[in-house]
Amino acid sequence: MREELVESKPDTEAAATSAPVIRVENVHKTYDLGEIQVHALRGVSLAIFPGEFVAIMGASGSGKSTFMNLAGCLDRPTRGRYLLEGQDVSQLTKKELAAIRNRRIGFVFQGFNLLPRTSALENVELPLVYSGIPHRQRVERSMEALRTVGLAGREEHHPAQLSGGQQQRVAIARALVNNPSILLADEPTGNLDSRTSVEIMEIFQRLNEERNLTILLVTHEADIAQYAKRTVTFRDGKVRHDVLIEGRLIAAQVLPTLASVDEDDEADASDGAEAQA
Ligand SMILES: Nc1ncnc2c1ncn2[C@@H]1O[C@H](COP(=O)(O)OP(=O)(O)OP(=O)(O)O)[C@@H](O)[C@H]1O
Ligand SMILES: [Mg+2]
Repeated sequence: MREELVESKPDTEAAATSAPVIRVENVHKTYDLGEIQVHALRGVSLAIFPGEFVAIMGASGSGKSTFMNLAGCLDRPTRGRYLLEGQDVSQLTKKELAAIRNRRIGFVFQGFNLLPRTSALENVELPLVYSGIPHRQRVERSMEALRTVGLAGREEHHPAQLSGGQQQRVAIARALVNNPSILLADEPTGNLDSRTSVEIMEIFQRLNEERNLTILLVTHEADIAQYAKRTVTFRDGKVRHDVLIEGRLIAAQVLPTLASVDEDDEADASDGAEAQA
């Protein structure tokens, strides 16, 4: 790895001035499958501060998605405590968790999860429908979110009429439309070619800088992790490494050095084939 990594202590700039957005204390998660129990998280403690951009890494099965599901209030820990913006959410009911999730957390997944026969605009509007926001405001806020991710003019396109990168942008716009304080992304570039992946990193870095949005990004790709500010590596359900990234990559600087999609049609086509394999 080119970049020099340093041991991370909670003495970052953010830690000095604010309380953590996410604090988990000795969190365990056991999946009970009747016959067998899978101990997916085995005592995870972490503090993540406002404006951090954390890459979550680790081998398949190490507990990354399990951790993200807990952080995103999609699930509850079997044991241990989770404080989200200071509030203990480890014991809340599913309904209470859903309300918190809708207000404070945006999700982006590898598979985009867009509704197929629905326009980009309507896909982005969906969380606002659940929040009971009136139609006109929904449209205004969704148009604004689509502009933020560089998709002005594509509002009426259906997912099948958009490239993979554009579909992921729609998913990011949908994640942003409720103005969350945390963005959770589980392998958002897993299906994308390398240039498109860097374009997605450019959006994340911009949101992180301009809005102080806290971002957790799961990735298997070490070069994608270099766009974050900190790397947390899981192994066997525990945090194995937690380091600040020195000399991280800046997507806006890297993009001009990469071949554009038009110049690089053939390479893109083979990348696409690999991603689908
Ligand atoms: N809903 C579930 N029911 C039972 N076991 C599960 C469930 N979800 C995950 N597991 C198990 O928990 C462990 C951790 O899984 P998890 O999905 O968190 O790994 P991961 O690090 O995200 O892996 P990958 O990189 O493949 O996505 C694995 O052994 C997995 O089989
Ligand atoms: Mg996973």
